[in-house]
Amino acid sequence: VLTRLSGTGKKLSASEALVTFIKALPHPQPEKCRGARCKRRRRKNLPMSETPSFAGRHVFVAGGSSGINLGIAQAFARAGAHVTVMSRSPDKVQQAAEGLRALGAQALGISADVRDPAAVDAALRQAHAQFGEIDVLISGAAGNFIAPAADLSPNGFKTVIDIDLNGSFHVLRLAYPLLKKPGASVINISAPQGVNPTMYQVHACAAKAGIDMMTRVLAMEWGEVGVRVNAIAPGPIGDTEGMRRLAPTPEALANAVASVPLQRMGTLEDIAHMALFLSSPQAGYVTGAVIPVDGGSSLRGGRDMRASYVPREAA
Ligand code: HXC
Ligand code: NAP
Repeated sequence: VLTRLSGTGKKLSASEALVTFIKALPHPQPEKCRGARCKRRRRKNLPMSETPSFAGRHVFVAGGSSGINLGIAQAFARAGAHVTVMSRSPDKVQQAAEGLRALGAQALGISADVRDPAAVDAALRQAHAQFGEIDVLISGAAGNFIAPAADLSPNGFKTVIDIDLNGSFHVLRLAYPLLKKPGASVINISAPQGVNPTMYQVHACAAKAGIDMMTRVLAMEWGEVGVRVNAIAPGPIGDTEGMRRLAPTPEALANAVASVPLQRMGTLEDIAHMALFLSSPQAGYVTGAVIPVDGGSSLRGGRDMRASYVPREAA
């Protein structure tokens, strides 16, 4: 056996045979990581870290200065990417970029409103000039509040549609020429409310349903150049602006947790892990999918979501 393993007709020592045998084992990582930790793990034949490497890749996160989207930006920064975050507030984007740099990433913060196509275009071009073609595009800018439809002004409805739906369209359409083709991964941030009707959320439900359909249409149009387009639909995620607005009291928060089959709020990491996976080679055949990361909340469907987390008088 030792002679056969050598492949040269020469008998191997036991340690040489062991090394040859380990080298011949299937490698769980398609891209060979050269970091010291990976080398150590390879030597010991341990499984590689579950985080794929995005070393040197350019990740652009619209709405990336806080909450879920910043959590995604941070995960990519830790995985070695160059990260651009864009949102309205100049202070928030600068602070977010500093935080990303503290994680060891090259990072850029750009202020722009997704409702302004010219501003979005300028932001994308600035990011492209700095870090090159965009490998991963996250579109997650959103605005929301609780309001019964009968009390919602036309401008209130329009504002949320303009930010969430029209804003996502501007980001995706204007980024398209700057995406790396083939191989780019586009991820829209949706919500279970895109499928499950939720009271006092007519504006956000309509916007997220539009985002889900836009995800599918663009997956078809851009598939032929090798760009994958998917969406993540987060359930209730703890310590986010979204949940502070949708569940503003301890009772409403308890209702939110009770509505989740896994009986807990999601975390920023829960969502970031899905974004990393969707952008990795392991998801190379996944496109046009709207993936719930919600502890099973969406399984309950429209009937259980009829009730909002808050009572009528609080909406
Ligand atoms: C009723 C409201 C309202 C409220 C604003 N409006 N807040 N109507 N109830 N609580 C109305 C205003 O009266 C106005 O209409 C119109 O909306 C525009 O308001 P502005 O304040 O001028 O808008 P703007 O400054 O552009 O701010 C946008 C915003 C704001 C959405 C209103 O809250 C914002 O910037 N949010 C960003 C942060 C955020 O919301 N994060 C959470 C995302 S969570 P009139 O008629 O008076 O002119 C999320 C969860 C998804 O998306 C899960 C469920 C789908
Ligand atoms: P968040 O912290 O308020 O995130 C929203 C981000 O969008 C902020 O960075 C905000 O920054 C930016 N933004 C808002 N309006 C913008 C505009 N007009 N132009 C550019 N950027 C804009 O809220 P979050 O709860 O983490 O939500 C993040 C995403 O997850 C949203 O798409 C939301 O719908 C989705 N989601 C959240 C939950 C949840 O439980 N929190 C559940 C389902 C889905 P500026 O204020 O600086 O613009």
